[in-house]
Amino acid sequence: MIRDLRDFISACERNGMLHRIGTEVDWRLELSHVAKVSEEMRGPALLFEHVRDSEIPVFTSAFTTSERMALCLGEDPALPITELSRKWMQRLQRRWIAPEVTDDCPVMENVLAGPDIDVTRFPAPWFYPGDGGRYFGTAVYSICRDPDTGWTNIGTYRMQTQGKDAVSVMMLRGKHGQLIRQKYIDRKQKMPFAAVIGGDPILFLVGSIQAGVNVSEYDIAGALRGEPVPVFVSELTGLTLPARAEIILEGYLDSDDLRSEGPLGEYTGYYSSTRSSDGKGLEPTLKVERILHRNDPVFWSTTVGKPVNDIHMFQSLNRSATLWHDLEAMKIPGIRAVYVPPESCGWFWAVISVKQMYPGHSSQVGNAAIGTSSGHYALKGVIVVDDDVDVEDWTQVWWALSTRFDARRSIQIIDRGRATPLDPSLPRSSRYIMSRVIMDACTPFEWEDKPIQVFMDRGTLDLVSSRWKEYGFSGANPVSALIDRLSEKP
Ligand SMILES: Cc1cc2nc3c(=O)[nH]c(=O)nc-3n(C[C@H](O)[C@H](O)[C@H](O)COP(=O)(O)O)c2cc1C
Repeated sequence: MIRDLRDFISACERNGMLHRIGTEVDWRLELSHVAKVSEEMRGPALLFEHVRDSEIPVFTSAFTTSERMALCLGEDPALPITELSRKWMQRLQRRWIAPEVTDDCPVMENVLAGPDIDVTRFPAPWFYPGDGGRYFGTAVYSICRDPDTGWTNIGTYRMQTQGKDAVSVMMLRGKHGQLIRQKYIDRKQKMPFAAVIGGDPILFLVGSIQAGVNVSEYDIAGALRGEPVPVFVSELTGLTLPARAEIILEGYLDSDDLRSEGPLGEYTGYYSSTRSSDGKGLEPTLKVERILHRNDPVFWSTTVGKPVNDIHMFQSLNRSATLWHDLEAMKIPGIRAVYVPPESCGWFWAVISVKQMYPGHSSQVGNAAIGTSSGHYALKGVIVVDDDVDVEDWTQVWWALSTRFDARRSIQIIDRGRATPLDPSLPRSSRYIMSRVIMDACTPFEWEDKPIQVFMDRGTLDLVSSRWKEYGFSGANPVSALIDRLSEKP
């Protein structure tokens, strides 16, 4: 059972999915460049044991492959992303599990306050040449609480190191963290805030999902793990914090102290910040009042940057699963698979397959997707395909777009959707609103005279399969893997 980051790292190592780098590596560019190159090769998770100026090792590339995402979720490593999404969605359909307060809090092994606070002790990487600084927070999640309802929200926001006792936090407009922050601003109150690294890696996986308002990602993480997240209530801020985290920066988010932040080479493959003029933003500051960490903490980081790497893979999984869950919650029948490809930055496009049951069904699916809690944000296109098309197989998606799609009938453009200001395809001056497209690549359900597909004869394929070796082919017999696509199921 994986209960925390250490368990996950050990599980990676036991399964031959971890590479330790013993030689000293520079936190400035070198570390991220080693990780990114390894990720481009779909390499193992990496543990940098000696990083310049720090005693603390850095873990990267956790989820570059679907095998490691499966390992984290306790699923079969052979499952592709859509099957992992299906499992995720099914676990959420069963029972959500609230966190449980415990006295066993390894993260309290070291409690540093006052002059002992030093965020720069942590080996935060400088990722790309044009970045504005070192980033403490990439594989991070933050915890805050709604002052009206007591709702605990978890969200991942990038955090730039700002000296010994502060990090800046970039929360984009409309994020739950930002909505909660606005309440504290309106009340002229300090906002309790914690930046967390480690704990159950599922907490990081859910930190970036578009959950609904008033939904605590703790409950979702509990549902995914099948047991409550162990937590404690901080006597400093009253926040509910994960007991098995590696590192927690705890304090208050100061919205009067706006500091220059960014740019950062983002997951879109472009540098970004929330202001355009000089490439830097002005973001609020987490004033750290204490640092909690385990003995021998591990610092976790993700390389962000151009697709496809770690971040795009896990965003693909958590966004596909959340979108699928939302569509099921809307009680739309016939959804067979939902896939947000890693190549779309794990974010901007979805391919959804549906078993059509009535006229307009495929159009309903496309429109519903962009109306969900997850899909309404920055999803710029939905391709809907029939259920005989494997959404993860571009060959099949292209075929559907070529043979079941007619531009005038099959395209719907919807204006005024919510965009991310990090989207480089939008003009810098207006990046909060965009249009989206639904591309319906299904044969219309209502057609009486449907085109007749070419299928092979199943009996003959069985014969070919049984004689495969006799034909002189070496290697595995491919027929069983292909038969359901090439011939009609009996
Ligand atoms: C590595 C990583 C970094 C992210 N950085 C930011 C960020 O700096 N600002 C932001 O608003 N969202 C960022 N996101 C996306 C948010 O985590 C995501 O929208 C999440 O739903 C926010 O949570 P909330 O809606 O509960 O506030 C990031 C996601 C990942 C995976």
